[in-house]
Amino acid sequence: MNIVVLCGGISTERDVSITSGTMVAKALRERGHRVFLLDSFFGCTEPYSRPAELFLREASSETIPVGESEPDLDKIRALRQQDNNSVLGDNVLEICRAADITFFALHGEEGENGQLQAVFDVAGIKYTGCGYLGSALAMNKTLSKKLFECSGILTPAGITVYAGNAPYADVGFPCVVKPCSGGSSVGTSIVSNREEYDAALELAFKYERAVIVERYIKGRELTVGVIDGVAMPVVEIIPKEGFYDYKNKYQAGLTTEICPAPIEDEVTSRIQRLSEKVNEVLMIEAYCRVDFLMDDSGELFCLEANTLPGMTPTSLIPQMATAQGKSFGELCEEIIEVSLKKYL
Ligand SMILES: Nc1ncnc2c1ncn2[C@@H]1O[C@H](COP(=O)(O)OP(=O)(O)OP(=O)(O)O)[C@@H](O)[C@H]1O
Ligand SMILES: [Mg+2]
Repeated sequence: MNIVVLCGGISTERDVSITSGTMVAKALRERGHRVFLLDSFFGCTEPYSRPAELFLREASSETIPVGESEPDLDKIRALRQQDNNSVLGDNVLEICRAADITFFALHGEEGENGQLQAVFDVAGIKYTGCGYLGSALAMNKTLSKKLFECSGILTPAGITVYAGNAPYADVGFPCVVKPCSGGSSVGTSIVSNREEYDAALELAFKYERAVIVERYIKGRELTVGVIDGVAMPVVEIIPKEGFYDYKNKYQAGLTTEICPAPIEDEVTSRIQRLSEKVNEVLMIEAYCRVDFLMDDSGELFCLEANTLPGMTPTSLIPQMATAQGKSFGELCEEIIEVSLKKYL
């Protein structure tokens, strides 16, 4: 197939996305596909006569490591020559249209919230992952939590507050303060008093106008992928220090991830059935990863679903695939295959 792997973008998860994209592109090339890796924000700056020729070009072997904190997006914006406010760089849609499918290796706001999915739908361009509606529902934690609550899926009690109108949200301490549509824990804090709460709110508002204040759940962190409606093996996440924040997510060796999670079979099947239900309730297509916390009494709280989860070989869904005996390349191809079902 001719495949565009779309990555980068202009969200706080830009660096993670470039790593995902580079790895996905490499794996798909190794499986015989012709792949063009494209940064959705910068577009294609090299000259070409026909988009189709880009799939035949030699790939660069460069990989960019993810930093200890999220990138400075103002600096990235300043680097672009193109003088408009579009989140898409030059020629992105034209090149994606020339491919058999675009593999979305984007993470975070503009790639994961349904907007690009809607643009691609309108333009008649095929892409991997969930469509616009499920993407939007899963991205917005306020909406997701409402849907969980009315579907009998336990989620930590929480309140959404808005910049300029943020009365004190008393859910008790400790509590978690996080941007409503963020990812990779950017802007997320765990706070145990009013002073920390005020500082955490100020930090979260830097990223978004809507912020969730949620009851802190003390317990084990578990996550599970769902492909084509069917749950994968469960991963337990154990940060060596603190919580699963940006640094602990992307710096090697700071978090232990165990797959399959060392939990009883009964818990595994409970969490797998719950993740399949989350997938259905949020109208997610193709694949996703659902995050949970399990408290000391064994109660499972769903935090959120990620519709474009990390796709480096050490990311969580690829680890689940490994536990199923699937290689990273096979997983990438499976994602393409199940994503094409949207178009049947
Ligand atoms: N209510 C909570 N109680 C305890 N810890 C929490 C809670 N909410 C979030 N956390 C911690 O913060 C992390 C990030 O939270 P969450 O998964 O809701 O947001 P995210 O930034 O969208 O994450 P992702 O990178 O998976 O997209 C969780 O992995 C968990 O460690
Ligand atoms: Mg999460």
